[in-house]
Amino acid sequence: MQPFLDGLRQLLGPADLLTDPADMAPYLTDWRRMFSGPALAILRPGSTEQVSAAVGLCAQHGVAIVPQGGNTGLAGGATPLGRAPQVVLSLARMTAIGTPDPIGMVIEAQAGCILQRVKEVAADCGRQLPISLAAEGSATVGGVIATNAGGVNVLRYGMARDFVLGLEVVLPDGTVVKGLKPLRKDNAGFDWKHLFIGSEGAFGIVTAAVLRLTPATRHRSVALLSVQDLPAATRLLGLFQDRIGETLSAFELISADAIRLVETQCGLGAPVSGGNWFLLVEAASSLDGLPAAVQATLEAAYEAGLLQDGTLAASEQQAQSLWALRKHVTEAESRCGKSLKHDVSLPLRRMGAFLESIQARLAGLAPAARLNIFGHLGDGNLHVNVVLGDTPLSIASRITGMVHDLVAEAGGSISAEHGLGQYRLADWQRLTPKTERDLAIDIKRAMDPKGLMNPGKAVPGTSHRQ
Ligand code: FAD
Ligand code: LAC
Ligand code: ZN
Repeated sequence: MQPFLDGLRQLLGPADLLTDPADMAPYLTDWRRMFSGPALAILRPGSTEQVSAAVGLCAQHGVAIVPQGGNTGLAGGATPLGRAPQVVLSLARMTAIGTPDPIGMVIEAQAGCILQRVKEVAADCGRQLPISLAAEGSATVGGVIATNAGGVNVLRYGMARDFVLGLEVVLPDGTVVKGLKPLRKDNAGFDWKHLFIGSEGAFGIVTAAVLRLTPATRHRSVALLSVQDLPAATRLLGLFQDRIGETLSAFELISADAIRLVETQCGLGAPVSGGNWFLLVEAASSLDGLPAAVQATLEAAYEAGLLQDGTLAASEQQAQSLWALRKHVTEAESRCGKSLKHDVSLPLRRMGAFLESIQARLAGLAPAARLNIFGHLGDGNLHVNVVLGDTPLSIASRITGMVHDLVAEAGGSISAEHGLGQYRLADWQRLTPKTERDLAIDIKRAMDPKGLMNPGKAVPGTSHRQ
C-alpha cells in the first residue's frame, strides 16, 4: 500500500493525508461512540479535482472509500466497517458558498459546508433554507443530501431531497459529473441526482449542490402544549391542520419521560406541566394575522378538551427556550449511557397501538430498559429509542428486531430519516421483499461495479443477490 499512500500524499500534501493513529481517531468513531473501524488513512481533499484524483487512485488500487461530512449521522454510515483496505474521505475542507440569488431563490454550496452556515447566508439575503436539525451546527450539506435528512420542518417543506436542484458528484472511478443547474424545472431526460440523494455514499461522492430557498417568514408562533394521550395529540394535529394548516411548520411530540431527561441531564426547565405527552408546535407566516389565528386555535383546543396545559411564547427568546427542550433530547439521551435508536414511520392511525405493543414487549424482554420517545408526529415519524440501563448489550439485537418486526407489521418504515448505514442494513434485508432488495443490489452494481463505495452501508453487497 506504500505506493498508494505516496500517491495520495503527493496529491493532497502531507497536512491533508492523515495516517497517524491519534490524528485519525476522531474520524474512525461516530458521534455516539457506537461504531468504530480501521482505515489506512484519512483524506482531506480541498477541491472537486482533488476528490476526483483521490477516488481514481483508490479505484486503481482497489481501496474502499468511506465518505464523511460532519460525522453526526446516527446509523454508522460514515464509520469504516470491516478489515478490507479502506480510507475515510472527509469533505470538511470544501466549504465554499456561492452568492445566493434571492430572486431565483437558490444558493450553491460545496459539500463540506456546515448546514447552519448556509442557512445564515440565506437568511442574510432575506430567504430561508428550512432544513432544520439539532445537529445543523456540525452536519454538512453533503451529509444532509447523502442521508436525505429530515428534521423538524419536513411537515411543511419536505426532506432534503426537496431542496436539491442541482448536484455535482464524483463517481467511483473518479469521473466528475457536473449537474449544478439552478433550475426548478428540468425534465430533459433522467433525473440522476435522485440516485445520490439518500444513498449514504454508496454510489459516489457529493461534492457540491444547488439548493432551493424559500421566502422568509416574518412572524412565528411557538407553543409548548401537554396532552393526556396520543389520540388527543393526533386530534390536535387535525385541529391545527383544519384551522391554520398552511402555516404549520413543526408538530413535534416529546414524551413526558423525555422532557424529564432533558431537565435532569441538560439543566433545562419545561414551563408546562401535566399530561403524558408534550407537543412543540410552530406556525410561521409573513401575514400579520398569524398570532391571533394561533391564539384562536389554542382556545378551540382547550374548549375541545384536548389540552392539559400549554404556553405560547411571547418573544423570540421564549420561542428559542421552548425549542431548546426539543433540540436537547438526543443530547440528554446520549448522557444516559448506551441506547438503541429506532427511527420509525407509520400511518398515524396505527401509532398508538404500535407504541402500546412496544411498551408491553419491552417490559418482558428488558425490564431494566426505558423508552425515550420523541420526534416528528406531524410526519408520522417517531424516534422510539431504548435507553438500555443495566440491560445486557447481548440482547440489543433482539430488542431492535422486536421493534422493527412491529414496524413491518404496521406497514411502516424502519428508517424514516436517518438511513440504514451499517446499523439497520441487516434488518432491512430481513424485512424487505426480495424483488426490492435485488433491485437495490442491481443499481449498486451498475453504479459501483467494484463495490468500493462505502461497503456494508445502505445497500447489501452483490454477493447477497441470488
Ligand atoms: P455524516 O455523518 O458525516 O455522514 C452520513 C452519511 O452520509 C454517511 O453514510 C456518509 O458516508 C455519507 N456522506 C457524508 N458526506 C457525503 C458526501 N459528501 N458524499 C457522499 N456521501 C456522504 N437527522 C435527521 O434526518 N433529522 C434530524 O432531526 C436529525 N437530528 C439529529 C440530531 C442530533 C443531535 C444528531 C447528532 C444527529 C441528527 N440527525 C438527524 C442525523 C444527522 O445529523 C443527519 O443525518 C445529517 O444529515 C448527517 O450529516 P453529516 O454531514 O454529519 O454526515
Ligand atoms: C431528532 C433526531 C434524532 O429528531 O432525528 O432530534
Ligand atoms: Zn428526527
